[in-house]
Amino acid sequence: MFAVHLLAFYFTKLKEDQIKKVDRFLYHMRLSDDVLLDVMTRFQAEMVKGLERDAHPTAAVKMLPTFVRSIPDGSEKGDFLALDLGGSKFRVLKVKVSEDGKQNVQMESQFYPTPKEITHGNGTELFDYVADCLADFMETKNIKHKKFPLGFTFSFPCIQTKLDEGVLLSWTKYFKVRGVQETDVISSLRHVLRKHKDVDVDVLALVNDTVGTMMTCGYDDQRCEVGVIIGTGTNACYMEEMSNIDLVEGDEGRMCINTEWGAFGDDGSLDDLRTEFDREIDLGSINPGKQLFEKMISGLYLGELVRLILLKMAKKGLLFNGKISTALRTKDKIETKHVAAMEKHKKGLQNTKEILMELGLTPSEEDCIAVQHVCTIVSFRSANLCAAALAAILTRLRENKKLIRLRTTVGIDGTLYKTHPQYPKRLHKVVRRLVPNCDVRFLLSESGSAKGAAMVTAVACRLVSQRKQIDEILASFELSKENLIEVKNKMREELEYGLKKETHATATVKMLPTYVCGTPDGTEKGKFLALDLGGTNFRVLLVKIRSGRRKSVRMYNKIFAIPLEIMQGTGEELFDHIVQCIADFLEYMGIKGARLPLGFTFSFPCRQASIDKGALVEWTKGFKATDCEGEDVVDMLREAIKRRNEFDLDIVAVVNDTVGTMMTCGYEDPNCEIGFIAGTGSNVCYMEEMKNIEIVEGTEGKMCINTEWGGFGDNGCIDSIRTKYDKEVDEGSLNPGKQRYEKMTSGMYLGEIVRQILIDLTKHGLLFRGQISESLRTRGIFETKFLSHIESFSGILRETVKEMAPQCDVTFMLSEDGSGKGAALITAVAKRLHNVEEN
Ligand code: BG6
Ligand code: GLC
Ligand code: GLC
Repeated sequence: MFAVHLLAFYFTKLKEDQIKKVDRFLYHMRLSDDVLLDVMTRFQAEMVKGLERDAHPTAAVKMLPTFVRSIPDGSEKGDFLALDLGGSKFRVLKVKVSEDGKQNVQMESQFYPTPKEITHGNGTELFDYVADCLADFMETKNIKHKKFPLGFTFSFPCIQTKLDEGVLLSWTKYFKVRGVQETDVISSLRHVLRKHKDVDVDVLALVNDTVGTMMTCGYDDQRCEVGVIIGTGTNACYMEEMSNIDLVEGDEGRMCINTEWGAFGDDGSLDDLRTEFDREIDLGSINPGKQLFEKMISGLYLGELVRLILLKMAKKGLLFNGKISTALRTKDKIETKHVAAMEKHKKGLQNTKEILMELGLTPSEEDCIAVQHVCTIVSFRSANLCAAALAAILTRLRENKKLIRLRTTVGIDGTLYKTHPQYPKRLHKVVRRLVPNCDVRFLLSESGSAKGAAMVTAVACRLVSQRKQIDEILASFELSKENLIEVKNKMREELEYGLKKETHATATVKMLPTYVCGTPDGTEKGKFLALDLGGTNFRVLLVKIRSGRRKSVRMYNKIFAIPLEIMQGTGEELFDHIVQCIADFLEYMGIKGARLPLGFTFSFPCRQASIDKGALVEWTKGFKATDCEGEDVVDMLREAIKRRNEFDLDIVAVVNDTVGTMMTCGYEDPNCEIGFIAGTGSNVCYMEEMKNIEIVEGTEGKMCINTEWGGFGDNGCIDSIRTKYDKEVDEGSLNPGKQRYEKMTSGMYLGEIVRQILIDLTKHGLLFRGQISESLRTRGIFETKFLSHIESFSGILRETVKEMAPQCDVTFMLSEDGSGKGAALITAVAKRLHNVEEN
């Protein structure tokens, strides 16, 4: 009895001695909670750095956006292929996701070796090999006849600007393939797949293994928002708020960030924690100076760390009686699986003995106990460091959500975590100690990352098919060169109809003579009033023109709103309102007494018999005041002035805005002979030879013609390029069937066209989750100015004109001062001619 006690005592003592010896020797590898909390704080700072635009380029922890924006929601379905490359094993898989109420995923897979010729060869060989394995898999499974979407788990740091792109930043772990770094692996894969005529796959998504793992686990547990790998390498991803990701536009929702935490410390920030063994591992690796955190943690390095420690201890005579075998001196002779075996509960000591003997050593009992303890310290440090970084991520998630307590799930995978007997429970325990305010569930990804990659691919697949439908819907807006030439020829035809006596009355492009026969010559002078009605704003202006050496134009103006009920009320109300605005302006300028000559820019089709007479043909755009069509607008203005009986004006000219614009620009550039408005409405005027204008007497010189091209197509001649949206916009307008060309081109309608498209896309379930909001139903809610934020039109206009009229050398000159200045110039000329006639 006594002997048994003595033996037990002796044994415990012996164990204690050995443990103390190793503890002393590896003092630097045993990390207290204070140190871990410090590591956690450092990693928090690294995450911030990686996310910030300015700090990102030099940040060690890259925090790469993955373009994965949500965890699976159960609506994913279909058959997918997946590749899983970069972990300890290369796999090709087929994943079938069915949406049948209860979630159901079936997988078939095959492992393929990755020999050193491949992992250390060149890029073409690697991708050819991957494609060959894929083809072989499809052959074996007899699925070559079918087209498959494919998701590619590629477990290396990649820069993504979309889901189906990944530019390799650098190789890590045991891969070092030439000519791949800084290239897009997706296009390389697509490229080699083209050689396999019998393989039809659509490579839709590249995912890191951490992301695949998060998605795999997210399929079973919606709370999963972190993915961790502790395998050959180590890394984590998590869902970050878009507003914190500087590198990606947009602030809404979340995106998964691949932290690439393996590179933590590459800038020296962990140097105080790294031991001589860590430095030695690094120097002997294929990527010295890189992945320093990973090299303290992951499966590729743990065994070697143990070996280096044992070797040193033996050299110091602390183990094996100072004897060293060749195997112990040989790199990588101890692997992570050995470490796991040596730490195994109960059988650990026996395993240790066998492993050491296989290394050509003759260990004593004490040696075995000591070696086992070395393994424990090394793998415990690994779990501790992972726990600290993971705690930093969890804290960030909790703070992002502004929660006091966070309840969350971490999806986790990797051979070290899965096969090391003590690792999971150590990791879990330390994480819970470091972040007591997080309730964490650790969910092992049983089926690997490919299931998750299939989920990501399913989403991408849905987006691709949506994109296709959207493209089909929008194809009706595309105009080929042939279309445009046809439009040009038709327009030419219609312009000629409008000029001819016989056809003028029925022409849809009205070609209205303006009685403006020349552009300004610089001799114009005097003080004039101008009105500018019919565009977005109503303006009243005072224009002072000087001629001669000190030639100049000075303008004073005021903008007035015209309320909708006036635009669409009675003619009398409209003109009374206009006169009211003029009265305000005269008052404001202090010139009420002066009877100034006035030019009236009236931006609607008017039939003119002289420069100061214009009968409104019909309202266009947003105007619909009663009792005006067919009436002379100059008379109506005069009568309204008379009704008010407060001041008098000398109305000299009525001018279309296109004509006013041409004159404004003509004052600066005598070559200007076209006036173009692309505003609320769309129209053009130009100088035509008198001999071509059959409806006006005389054949000498030129006259400006207001084309009123907005009415082009009102006879159906361009129906072939009108879309169903154009028709809807027309039907909902104030003048259905009229101004069809204007309704396809001008500001008053473009926003409305977009709104009609948005409604249609929503009805097809392609936008806004199929929900048409109240405001989207509201006419006019989508203003044209929103479009001009998105697109730039003037460049397109210029380029197309050049293409359609290659023999014309056209300068586009923006009329900065509006058409009011032109109206005043016309008035000045008319006034001078009038005076000449009178004298
Ligand atoms: C597998 C995943 O289960 O784990 C891979 O499917 C991942 O995508 C791997 O790379 C990581 O572990 P290891 O130990 O194989 O590197
Ligand atoms: C390495 C890779 C990383 C991967 C991890 C786990 O750290 O750089 O992308 O996620 O290994 O496989
Ligand atoms: C409408 C009018 C036209 C005007 C154009 C631009 O098309 O009918 O007269 O020039 O809008 O404002």
